[in-house]
Amino acid sequence: MKPAKITVIGAGNVGASLGQRLVEKDFADIVLLDIIEGLPQGKALDILESSPVVGFTHRITGSNDYADTAGSDVVVITSGATRKPGMTREDLLKINTGIVSGVVKEVVKHSPDCTIIVVANPVDAMTWVAWKASGFPRSRVLGLSGVLDGARLATFIALEMSVPVTDVSCYVLGEHGTSMVVFPRLAMVKGKPITGLMPEETVNRLVQRAVNGGAEIVGLLKTASAFYAPSAAVARMVASIIGDKKEIMPCAACLDGEYGLKNVVVGVPVKLGKGGIKEIVDLKLTHDELKALAASADAVKKQIESIVL
Ligand code: LAC
Repeated sequence: MKPAKITVIGAGNVGASLGQRLVEKDFADIVLLDIIEGLPQGKALDILESSPVVGFTHRITGSNDYADTAGSDVVVITSGATRKPGMTREDLLKINTGIVSGVVKEVVKHSPDCTIIVVANPVDAMTWVAWKASGFPRSRVLGLSGVLDGARLATFIALEMSVPVTDVSCYVLGEHGTSMVVFPRLAMVKGKPITGLMPEETVNRLVQRAVNGGAEIVGLLKTASAFYAPSAAVARMVASIIGDKKEIMPCAACLDGEYGLKNVVVGVPVKLGKGGIKEIVDLKLTHDELKALAASADAVKKQIESIVL
């Protein structure tokens, strides 16, 4: 049987570390594509030369030519401008709309049956752009959001409580941005909500740190944005799709009535398997939680309304 094929567009920090994480999982061949000549080839070759040491047998290759991405099962779009200190994800809206729609058109030409995962920011709006530009059913276009935001919150909870991070589970929905929706009652340590384990101010501080998680890294790195945690989150999403694992995780998804929301992309729990989103999972939310999600979706809608494709 032909091995699965994954293309990663953009050989910057996120793209290259994602390429490495994916090929080390050894379940697919990887193509790393970038417009800069030599960059994807150099990084891919460097990663491939680690294969005898790490012990993976799949291939990673670099290319500047979309023809080499042909027949991909999953395509991850990491290309686009990234935030500099002081920039919001929304500042990137205009620049990245052009980049993402151009990339998607090339991707679709060569891999008409692929599932597209968008990482470029602002990711909810860029997922919408990718959906429109691809002409794909909405099940085959999704974006990175809650897996990363939830991982950040889980990290902060584990640090605060000095517990292993494996004891912590979190749910973060809504926009991957300042209006993201964190439900402290769904953030648990060994199945117990953190609301009963720490004072309210601590909960609020940790939630706020998760909301600012991307900006905190940008502030530290100064000339780059996060890539280790984002690439780990995307690798998990890709693994569930390629392995048809049907894991449920929060992702940016195009909604058509679910959670009372329509014509918008926002983070909700989805079941990921072969062919992308198998199901949008209906989490039972309270009236107030649904209101918070709707407000977050409104923030994304405003961005979408300003987009000219
Ligand atoms: C972040 C980028 C991936 O949150 O949006 O770091």
